[in-house]
Amino acid sequence: MVKPMAALKRKPQENPESEWFGYRRIDASEKTGLVEQVFASVAGNYDLMNDLMSGGLHRLWKDTLVRRMRPRAGQTLLDVAGGTGDIALRCHKKTEGKAKIIVCDINPAMLERGKAKALDQGVMKGLTWVTGNAEELPFPDRSVDTYSIAFGLRNVTRIDKALREAARVLRPGGRFFCMEFSPGVMPAIRPFYEAYCMNVLPLLGEFVAKDRNAYKYLAESIMKFPEQAELAARMEKAGLSRAKWTDLTGGIAVIHEGWRI
Ligand SMILES: C[S@@+](CC[C@H](N)C(=O)[O-])C[C@H]1O[C@@H](n2cnc3c(N)ncnc32)[C@H](O)[C@@H]1O
Repeated sequence: MVKPMAALKRKPQENPESEWFGYRRIDASEKTGLVEQVFASVAGNYDLMNDLMSGGLHRLWKDTLVRRMRPRAGQTLLDVAGGTGDIALRCHKKTEGKAKIIVCDINPAMLERGKAKALDQGVMKGLTWVTGNAEELPFPDRSVDTYSIAFGLRNVTRIDKALREAARVLRPGGRFFCMEFSPGVMPAIRPFYEAYCMNVLPLLGEFVAKDRNAYKYLAESIMKFPEQAELAARMEKAGLSRAKWTDLTGGIAVIHEGWRI
């Protein structure tokens, strides 16, 4: 059953210590652990599920993101919530292994899948895999040229803290990129999209990844994520300037970009 968007967007009873986990209001301190459980559970089927859920579209979206990032030899690229390395591996290919690419993710199980995938693709050098939280990145100030986060920000407990961390680690002149699913899709496709998210994704999760709740969370977390203009405003506030966005596939996925001035 699809809930109306208005109900989902309604402000919760404000409690600064509470957070959304999908549609559930939880204590903020619980969210990171719950998200970790979700990705530990789905890591083995993560890449297959991405293909099934998006009909392969996620590959095109990721290609588009990396084209916009324009990674170059000699740069330091940080892919946060990098999971199984899809963005990092594309950047590695584009730079012919001549950039320093760091994949940072809170979940070691996702990173292990990524390392195995890199080896399968014959990539031995140029990638560093680091376990870490987007809200407290284990990297020095002004140490990276490009920061990317694909389908990760939605899972972070304190989005504004993660945005401030991105601004902190970027060098002046560095670029920020975020790709996320968005609730702000074109009105013409909104009812189909919501029905797909709320009904089909959990079913796919149940039958393929054997975890209905993980994909129910995925669908709910999309609906709770800020719409395009709100995220751009929060980027600016965090120190990521000239924020703008590009809708992909009617706004199902959105790329936000900004500069560290
Ligand atoms: C949907 S996956 C995206 C993976 C990859 N970027 C991609 O596009 O395929 C979300 C990732 O965010 C990671 N994650 C969730 N919360 C995080 C946090 N606070 N800090 C860093 N990574 C986090 C998860 O472990 C998971 O690997």
